[in-house]
Amino acid sequence: MVTIKVLSWLVLSCCYLLGVHSLPTLQTVLQKATSVFSSSVDSPQYGRFLHLTDIHLDDYYAEGATIKSFCHRMPKKKKKKSKLAGHWGAPGTDCDAAPSLVYHSLESIANEWKDKIDFVLWTGDNARHDSEPGKIRRSGQEILQYNIRMTELMQKHFRRSADNSSIPIVPCLGNNDVHPHNVFSGPTPRPGTDDQDDNLQLILYRNFWADMIPEDQYEAFRHGGYFAVDVARGIRVLSLNTLYFFDSNDAVGSCSAKGEPGYDHVQWMEEQLARAHEDGVKVFIIGHVPPSTRSFKPDCLDAYVNVSLAYKDIIQGHFYGHANADHFQLLHRNAEDDDDSMTIQESPSRLAERLRDQYKELAHHGKDDGHDENIMVVHVAPPLLPLFNPTFRINEYSLDDSPYYGTWTKYTQWYADLKVWNDAYRHGNTSKPQFQVEYATDADYNMSDLSPQSWVRLARDLTEKTSAARDLWMAYLTNMVVQNEDSLNDEMFWLD
Ligand SMILES: *[C@@H]1O[C@H](CO)[C@@H](O)[C@H](O)[C@H]1NC(C)=O
Ligand SMILES: *[C@@H]1O[C@H](CO)[C@@H](O)[C@H](O)[C@H]1NC(C)=O
Ligand SMILES: *[C@@H]1O[C@H](CO)[C@@H](O)[C@H](O)[C@H]1NC(C)=O
Ligand SMILES: *[C@@H]1O[C@H](CO)[C@@H](O)[C@H](O)[C@H]1NC(C)=O
Repeated sequence: MVTIKVLSWLVLSCCYLLGVHSLPTLQTVLQKATSVFSSSVDSPQYGRFLHLTDIHLDDYYAEGATIKSFCHRMPKKKKKKSKLAGHWGAPGTDCDAAPSLVYHSLESIANEWKDKIDFVLWTGDNARHDSEPGKIRRSGQEILQYNIRMTELMQKHFRRSADNSSIPIVPCLGNNDVHPHNVFSGPTPRPGTDDQDDNLQLILYRNFWADMIPEDQYEAFRHGGYFAVDVARGIRVLSLNTLYFFDSNDAVGSCSAKGEPGYDHVQWMEEQLARAHEDGVKVFIIGHVPPSTRSFKPDCLDAYVNVSLAYKDIIQGHFYGHANADHFQLLHRNAEDDDDSMTIQESPSRLAERLRDQYKELAHHGKDDGHDENIMVVHVAPPLLPLFNPTFRINEYSLDDSPYYGTWTKYTQWYADLKVWNDAYRHGNTSKPQFQVEYATDADYNMSDLSPQSWVRLARDLTEKTSAARDLWMAYLTNMVVQNEDSLNDEMFWLD
């Protein structure tokens, strides 16, 4: 059944890829494959990079539509305009992103930052959610179209002013970038032979991401949807395919079973980290679904934590999206399963409660500096999708000419207050949303760098029994919902 669906998706998408739009054909894409290494090595270095995630573009978004219809259909009776889908989006609801917001945001973020950053991390979920399966079915073809369109836009906008050269962009697959969502098989045996066929969706992605994946990584990507890329001098990004670790993906087995895609993926990670260590480079790991007891298969989580801790000296951070709320998780080597590991969605207040328990449990023991060698930290950036408000994150790393070079030191979280811009629009002011600083890790969290030790210290600062800690916790929660404070009390469920 699943096979048939995937096949029909592929037939449609191949046709789409080969015709209809002004897209490069498969052949030209295959020919013009270039390494993303070359351009970045000689260009000026800024010590900054952008992290963009969870765009969730929705072509069906309609200004003035009801929230109940996921911003897809007009109300039958007259309703107050402020209760309906706004021009720029519907923050605080389960609606997906309005095209007007997505196109404007990509362009304005790129215009502002293209001559100030070294590379872009882009962690998946470009397509809208399948929020109305009975009404507006989301087809595989539609998912692919969003991804091709976003790829073209990213590559068009992220170019240097001086010489129009491209800025390295590192994508990865989200659970909503495949069809049917969450389900993603590994290579399949070719009947009557000992050979295997790569997952056809990976072949497609490999084709239209060809400029972003180094040629020597094509095979790895076609096999497993992961690749390594050097984005600046001494800086390597490992782009993971977390669908093979994801608890909701029933098409693959656990990571401890030889021959399973998750097993191969962990092996690959280990090889890459060993090589990075040998090469003396710093590593930034990116993926879509963040590792946690709630989202990874238990064996996959254990293996991920084990290999990450083994190479903690070179790994600068684990950059994720998917959860749609700004937060960080502490993972312990011997993490117990959460009681509620079966819940797929949770409200902001529930997430907050769970994080608080986790920080209290893990950040107050360890050595004097609060740090336990068995703890790693996972970072979940909030989405561009205005679930609360649209966001992007500018990270910084050290350019010191020393072993400290490449160390992750800081980030600044940006957002646009959509309510303000929607209200302005309704009153005839059509200016486009402007992004502003929400908070920065140094100024607002008193962090002098972003090492695991510093995050554990922050977790402790957040959960002390002092009034300063309570204020800090409230600020942290408000950041978690991107200043959309109404959402904190909401039992709203969000789709991830
Ligand atoms: C920059 O390069 C892209 C890709 O080659 C091209 O489409 C675009 O027209 C160029 N822009 C300018 C201003 O030269
Ligand atoms: C943990 O990681 C190390 C280093 O990558 C590896 O040698 C070891 O086999 C791993 N152990 C388990 C139980 O996966
Ligand atoms: C339009 O609204 C924005 C957001 O409130 C405001 O900053 C801007 O000054 C307004 N422009 C005009 C012309 O009123
Ligand atoms: C900020 O952190 C430093 C240590 O890095 C500490 O001495 C200082 O008290 C902290 N300030 C606040 C306001 O928490």
